Amino acid sequence: MHSIDRISIGGIAAARIAELRDTEAAAFRKARPKSEAKLGNGIAGFLGGVPMHWMTDWPTPFPILVDGAKGATITDIDGNRLDDFCLGDTGSMLGHSPPPVARAIRRQSGRGLTYMLPSEDALAIGSLLQQRFGLPYWQIATTATDANRFALRVARAVTGREKILVFNGCYHGAVDETMVRLVDGRPANRPGLAGEFRDLTRATKIVEFNDIAALGAALADGDVACVITEPVLTNSCMVLPEPGFHDALRRLTRAAGTLLLIDETHTISTGPGGYTSKHGLEPDLFVLGKPVAGGVPASIWGMSEEVATRYGDYNRVKEPGYSGMGTTLSANPLQFAAMRATLEEVMTEEAYAHMDRLARRLDAGLTAVIQRSKLPWHVARVGARVEFICAPGPLNNGGEAEKARAPELEAAIHVALVNRGVLIAPFHNMMLISPATTSAQVSRLVAAFAAVAARLTA
Ligand SMILES: Cc1ncc(COP(=O)(O)O)c(C=O)c1O
Repeated sequence: MHSIDRISIGGIAAARIAELRDTEAAAFRKARPKSEAKLGNGIAGFLGGVPMHWMTDWPTPFPILVDGAKGATITDIDGNRLDDFCLGDTGSMLGHSPPPVARAIRRQSGRGLTYMLPSEDALAIGSLLQQRFGLPYWQIATTATDANRFALRVARAVTGREKILVFNGCYHGAVDETMVRLVDGRPANRPGLAGEFRDLTRATKIVEFNDIAALGAALADGDVACVITEPVLTNSCMVLPEPGFHDALRRLTRAAGTLLLIDETHTISTGPGGYTSKHGLEPDLFVLGKPVAGGVPASIWGMSEEVATRYGDYNRVKEPGYSGMGTTLSANPLQFAAMRATLEEVMTEEAYAHMDRLARRLDAGLTAVIQRSKLPWHVARVGARVEFICAPGPLNNGGEAEKARAPELEAAIHVALVNRGVLIAPFHNMMLISPATTSAQVSRLVAAFAAVAARLTA
């Protein structure tokens, strides 16, 4: 036997994964002659052949050249229709071009796209955010990255402390100070950072998620301005909080005079008020980006009464000058129009009830396939966000999640699913249910997953 036959990844022989990868890559090309002719060798004029380098991180031989997307279906220029469970990695979690958002954009499109002034839609949004997310004061930015950056600045300003704390495996966008990992148990800059010469561990502490003792020890020095976390680690496979973890996190941060920033950008899959509302979390700072304006770039960040008072006090005595927060196109009237329509008409209880029901079905369907196929894999879910992981679970922290990744196997599965009419997220095995997703689409995904599992285990 050749040695490659004996290597097992996620319970599957490497040779079988390679065979799946090659046959599926060939099938992908065969179904897309026009796309391959237009961008098979990259798009002229763009560095690396794409307008944004993540587009080459998809495991397909070349990016899917999209003709259009509607609801939960995406179509390429070769006429291939895909059931879209990636949904722009959450930007389109509420469906592609939700009709109320499309109408609002059309209405606003002839009335100016950016003014650095409020429009009448803005008058409605402040109280919508207060009611929905429970915090009294809000700002609008353009990306979740920026919202996190600005919220962290406020945390440092009001506490007078420089350090922040993150959990291993976290992702909060391109926020420099969160780009820290535990490497062999020791804090280090996240491997792969380009052009980063600073030692980010100087101002960022890092511990494992669900490790209450390590968290308590890291906060005990009283030098951490803010803990920033997702309520569930969704960017590290999917790591759920253990019972009592969020209570301990809140108790320990309060005791240490450390603020708590909850980043709901992905966990808004839980319900209309996010994980925070459903589980009664009490953050000092709150961030939500991606789908909050139905796919139009926008984010929100909010703060408690106490943080707002302290920030007011801080601003009264700080030296005059630019705060370092805010960007020119933020809080523009297109964002207001799209966000208002999203909050009022799209992110409804009924929409979430539908999403949750189908996500449960998807979870059960995938789990049944895994069990039937005797694969050592598992499924995790937070509301409408489902993830299959090619390793046993549940996972307890980012370190375990790192070890559970099986990039070659996952890449082969992704392309095989595309060839069976299903698109899932590129960087890990994430699937989202939107209000527009149908029961038939979930059935097709489960059937495609079963067919791929059968190929792998035959
Ligand atoms: C939890 C979380 N926060 C923030 C971000 C950053 O979002 P954006 O890239 O839109 O700035 C992401 C992106 O994946 C995320 O997963």
